[in-house]
Amino acid sequence: MATRAAPATLSPLAGVDGSSAVPVPTGLSEVDEVLGGGLVPGSVTLLSGEPGIGKSTLTLQIAASTASTGAGVLLVAGEEAPAQVAARALRLGTVPDSLDVLDALDVDVVVATFAEARPQLVVVDSIQTLYAADVDSAPGSPTQLRECASRLLTAAKRLDISLLLVGHVTKDGSLAGPRLLEHLVDTVLGFSGDRHGDLRMLRAVKHRFGATTGVGVFEMGAVGLQAVDDPSERFLRDRLVGVAGSVVAPLVDGRRPVLAEVQALAVPRGQAAAHLTSQGLPAGRCRLVTAVLERRAAQGLDQVDLFVSLAGGGRSEDPGADLAVAVAAWSALNDVVVPPDVVICGELGLAGEIRAVSHADRRLQEAHRLGFRRAIVPTGVSSAPAGLQLVARPTVSAALAWLAEAVPRASPAVHTPAIQ
Ligand code: TYD
Ligand code: MG
Repeated sequence: MATRAAPATLSPLAGVDGSSAVPVPTGLSEVDEVLGGGLVPGSVTLLSGEPGIGKSTLTLQIAASTASTGAGVLLVAGEEAPAQVAARALRLGTVPDSLDVLDALDVDVVVATFAEARPQLVVVDSIQTLYAADVDSAPGSPTQLRECASRLLTAAKRLDISLLLVGHVTKDGSLAGPRLLEHLVDTVLGFSGDRHGDLRMLRAVKHRFGATTGVGVFEMGAVGLQAVDDPSERFLRDRLVGVAGSVVAPLVDGRRPVLAEVQALAVPRGQAAAHLTSQGLPAGRCRLVTAVLERRAAQGLDQVDLFVSLAGGGRSEDPGADLAVAVAAWSALNDVVVPPDVVICGELGLAGEIRAVSHADRRLQEAHRLGFRRAIVPTGVSSAPAGLQLVARPTVSAALAWLAEAVPRASPAVHTPAIQ
């Protein structure tokens, strides 16, 4: 007969000490911002991104910054030889004494080493290079990934060590392994950007210790990753004023507002299979927006191939960009210039209605800070910083009607850092 398990003792939740989840700053302000303060002792963070995007650089900077406070940090360098890591560390700045490097790939050796050394932070670059000797499959295989991660995780939790795992992923999914680990870890950070440009964005995709708020923006330079202090200014720096198809949108990533330029270009329809190409904005969302535009407000989109882009290598999934995409497409299609002091935000519904956006106040403050003077917004928005005029419209066609009235006569394009 099966034995029945004895019941466990209940603990009232109110009596459980929840104070241990206090983040320890890494000292890199953008990273700490994304993490809501820093890395929590005993927590496991997965940093994923495409090969070459800068994961090793970022984790080395985190390691060095943490160690510069005197805290013990162990860097498990599976991808590169210790000499290479040392050369890179020197290039990035001074190398603190409490930063150790371990050249071992056997996960049990790694665990035994940090169980003995008891550092505050262990960085594993990358999880795909480790293996468990008693598991019969190649390093990087799903079985090895899961096994190695769970051994590291168990030890890190027991010893109250912060664990930072690097994992390579590719957009096409050919290196999707680390996604298997997302449910195991406490935090998943995504590192993205255009490898050929210098902007990089760090986002918390999952965060057990707080809301997934904010985006960290970096620039990859000769001495590693530098925080971009004013992302809005950076994204608008190269904007051409006076060109059709350009719209500035106050976007929100988590809670942080960032102004970005939504661009559209319409060319006579060719034989291409796809009539809409987007970069930096979700293609499905752009298709929906242009379908609404075609049906509810504008005509002629079926005659063109449309290109939509978030300028400057940015990336956003904020539905608050919908109206900006619609206006940029309309502007490109009709060769009408949107006044340069106007920002546009709103989500679009299938009926052509402009729907409310999150954090409207933050968006408008950011637009005001950068000198914009008018904002097309959903009708629910009623307050704005002094000096910023609200143009609240219920539908995309009403917004376009206002713009058609407001557009200045065509003027030659001029290069300007912010707005005219
Ligand atoms: P890396 O951190 O090795 O990427 P990952 O670990 O994600 O594969 O860095 C990738 C690129 O960054 C590499 O091509 C060189 C460049 N880089 C700089 O431009 N400046 C620097 O200071 C460093 C360290 C790297
Ligand atoms: Mg690397």
